[in-house]
Amino acid sequence: MKILMVCLGNICRSPMAEGVLRHKVEQRGLDISVDSAGTANYHVGDYPDRRAMAQMNHNGIDITSFRGRQFSRNDFKDFDLIFAMDESNYHNIISLADSPEQEDKVDLILNQSMPGRNESVPDPYYGGDEGFEHVFQLLNEACDKLLDNLDVK
Ligand code: 4NP
Repeated sequence: MKILMVCLGNICRSPMAEGVLRHKVEQRGLDISVDSAGTANYHVGDYPDRRAMAQMNHNGIDITSFRGRQFSRNDFKDFDLIFAMDESNYHNIISLADSPEQEDKVDLILNQSMPGRNESVPDPYYGGDEGFEHVFQLLNEACDKLLDNLDVK
């Protein structure tokens, strides 16, 4: 099982989602690989945003080794599930899909914790530190539910 988390820049929300899910996968001893990417290319090769790294560090998760990369069509072949952080990311990903099977791999991450509501993880980039804490809380709950819902050993 391979899971990809996707946002716009791949420096705030999706690296946090990757770090949170990796941590839970390790805690549960599961065989799931996790990665993240951005729909845009602005931050390819960059560290996560320092506020994202600080928020994750505060919760005991180190994401300082992560670097930004851009989502590509190959990711539909490499991953089983692709989770968008917001509606805009979702539509950008879907626009690159070649088949209904590829489209079926994509959903909004918050539909795991709030099924059918199509809620977005708010973009914290232009706000303050409290936005990053909120993002962490949303992702923490969604990733727990995701692993519960997967029912994998
Ligand atoms: P992210 O946040 O999509 O959660 O990584 C953003 C990071 C950078 C930009 C926008 C959103 N930006 O415009 O550079």
